[in-house]
Amino acid sequence: MALHPKQWVAFGSAATEILYGGAAGGGKSHLIRQAAISWCAEIPGLQVYLFRRIREDLSKNHMEGPAGFRALLSGWVECGFAQIVEDEIRFWNGSKIYLCHCKDEKDRFKYQGAEIHVLLIDELTHFTEVIYRFLRNRVRMTGITVPAKYQGRFPRILCGANPGGVGHQFVKVTFICSTSSLASRPIGRARPAMKPSSAIATRSRAHCPNRSPR
Ligand SMILES: Nc1ncnc2c1ncn2[C@@H]1O[C@H](COP(=O)(O)OP(=O)(O)OP(=O)(O)O)[C@@H](O)[C@H]1O
Ligand SMILES: [Mg+2]
Repeated sequence: MALHPKQWVAFGSAATEILYGGAAGGGKSHLIRQAAISWCAEIPGLQVYLFRRIREDLSKNHMEGPAGFRALLSGWVECGFAQIVEDEIRFWNGSKIYLCHCKDEKDRFKYQGAEIHVLLIDELTHFTEVIYRFLRNRVRMTGITVPAKYQGRFPRILCGANPGGVGHQFVKVTFICSTSSLASRPIGRARPAMKPSSAIATRSRAHCPNRSPR
């Protein structure tokens, strides 16, 4: 897997809720795709949900093109290790990547029953805080065995974001205010908007910027 040094920091971080911020072309979407493939290959039965707000952007940005999932996985598809069926990528070991979109707040209920082991959100600032909190509350994991090196790191959230957009303020307050670059901090009681639970209370949050949202 080819990652730049800052992408490796986010990929390998012990934090379980991560924002990879930064400039256009900084490698946010690439990191999200590579992480999804790598974790699916290493953890049998993993359910990865990758979100963009708009379906068309999801397909253009992540599925098609020279660095999209189809290109990245073409060898594995040819060998039968992976199968791409519409918006779902199925791996030989039972792991799956679901390509999802959630345009408006009412659309979030489509994911009411989801058990999300890995939540990947590209362009987090395009989403409202209501949608983020809802999806975040679907993140849980039972019955999955992770390799020793990943103990305590799953379930996991990795988001990419540019500054601006409807979610700019909540992303800034949630991930950036009172956290310095590349730092992680424990969360839980700090934000009353979050539903307290043992899973959430033990998470920590990291902010890995290329260039921080203002
Ligand atoms: N580690 C890497 N190795 C090789 N190519 C990379 C790497 N990281 C990013 N790229 C390539 O650089 C280009 C820009 O990366 P990417 O699309 O992930 O950036 P981005 O931060 O999502 O940009 P935007 O803000 O415009 O969405 C893409 O062609 C991508 O495939
Ligand atoms: Mg991108």
